[in-house]
Amino acid sequence: MEQKQNQKNSYYVTTPIYYINDVPHIGHAYSTIAADTLARYYRKQLGSDNVKFVTGTDENSQKTIEAAKEAKLDLNKYTKQTAASWKQVWDRLDINYDRFIRTTNKDHIKTVQTILQKVYETGDIYKGIYEGKYCFRCEAFYKDDELVDGLCCPVHKKEVDHIKEENWFFKLSKYEKPILNHIQNNPNFIRPKSRRNEILAFIRDKGLEDFSISRASQDWGIRLPFDESQVAYVWFDALLNYVTAAGYGTEEFNKWWPADLHIVGKDIIKFHCLYWPGMLMSAGLDLPRSIFAHGFFTIDGEKVSKSLGNAIDPVELTEKYGVDPLRYYLLREIPFGSDGDFSSERFDVLYNSELANNLGNSVSRIAAMLLKYNDGKYNETLNARPIEIDEYIRDCRFDRCLESIFERLTELNAAIEEFKPWEAYKTDSTGTIEFLSSLAVEIRQIGEVLEPFLPNTAIRINKIFSTGIVADRPEILFPRIEN
Ligand code: MSP
Repeated sequence: MEQKQNQKNSYYVTTPIYYINDVPHIGHAYSTIAADTLARYYRKQLGSDNVKFVTGTDENSQKTIEAAKEAKLDLNKYTKQTAASWKQVWDRLDINYDRFIRTTNKDHIKTVQTILQKVYETGDIYKGIYEGKYCFRCEAFYKDDELVDGLCCPVHKKEVDHIKEENWFFKLSKYEKPILNHIQNNPNFIRPKSRRNEILAFIRDKGLEDFSISRASQDWGIRLPFDESQVAYVWFDALLNYVTAAGYGTEEFNKWWPADLHIVGKDIIKFHCLYWPGMLMSAGLDLPRSIFAHGFFTIDGEKVSKSLGNAIDPVELTEKYGVDPLRYYLLREIPFGSDGDFSSERFDVLYNSELANNLGNSVSRIAAMLLKYNDGKYNETLNARPIEIDEYIRDCRFDRCLESIFERLTELNAAIEEFKPWEAYKTDSTGTIEFLSSLAVEIRQIGEVLEPFLPNTAIRINKIFSTGIVADRPEILFPRIEN
């Protein structure tokens, strides 16, 4: 299946939808900030009306049932409350999503039932007995050889359940060849390359088996339209959020689908790169253009998770550093796609050297000189040298984008040291003002290019360097962190 590149002048990016039994931690914030950055970038390129950024909550999970029980709350109340608290966190982090989807939303339930019916009518759903191991924390089936010591889930290291029940199965095996062909013909379908190779090796070594798409024993979830006694398997339901949010069943759908990019963590690529394409093929829908799997944040080498008790609260970090520095740290420190260890020491170093020194000082220095030598006025008709980050953005190389932008700052600072405006002004005031003007237009441009990454800083830079005049003696953008 060939990709329909460039046929639609729109951009649709998604994050995974999050399980609500957990509170948002740094790993969740990572996917969401990356998607927000892309959405902000493409809004500038294509206009806000042509960009859709969707995030949300995955609520029909067995974990939700357990968590509600623990909180002694009725399920509807529990899901409403926790979904609201996730939203609040994204608001605190200035996440500018276009839709927050909940899998308990009416339109989503309708999508799931319509597609289940369609896939059923295609002949891709049949009844069978599921017997095997299941980790409800992962909401995933495991083969014996995948378990740790034959007993425990490889991710949570907790004992898995043994399930035996009559379920409905989806014929994923039927789509093995087409999925393989698609991956092979579309090198960008799964990124980065290492994940693509992992998926190709999985197909080669294990092949694609049919999987159970329903639960008989669960009371909470979306009912199968052809068998009311069962609810949809939570992954079958959750993956479909991407088409619901694109407006499945309405005219809007053609504008957004296929999605341009699903951002996911590396732990959920099997669902996104194998199950999801099979489901879409069966339903007669186009496949997303790309799935990018980022790496994992570890803390002292351990996975971050509620069960391990080492989760870092992103809101707490913003209280110490501010929202933009958190975004900066997450996107700058670790190449998107690689794993990385979270370190407060590194955060402090990056904050002080790059944000406080390089960016913050440049802004105040240039503004102060213009105020001193020319009442803040500068020649805004000069052109800045463009900073090209388009290719890096397309490759999700956020670290390289930021590096390019900050390299320009370093160059500006070197130019100031060389020109020495404080001396040059004495003999050549016109030339000095022209030089300072060129710095002002450069810094304005830096503010603009930084907007998707550091939205608040961009606004502040734009206020300081308003058109043709430094509006005011600037406040300090990033007060140094002293420990
Ligand atoms: N509900 C499913 C996704 C369904 S999408 C159709 C799910 N939810 S999750 O809340 O468990 O995880 C959501 C995302 O957070 C995943 O992409 C996961 O990889 C990411 N992260 C969870 N912990 C993480 C880190 N420690 N580091 C980086 N990302 C991590 O899976």
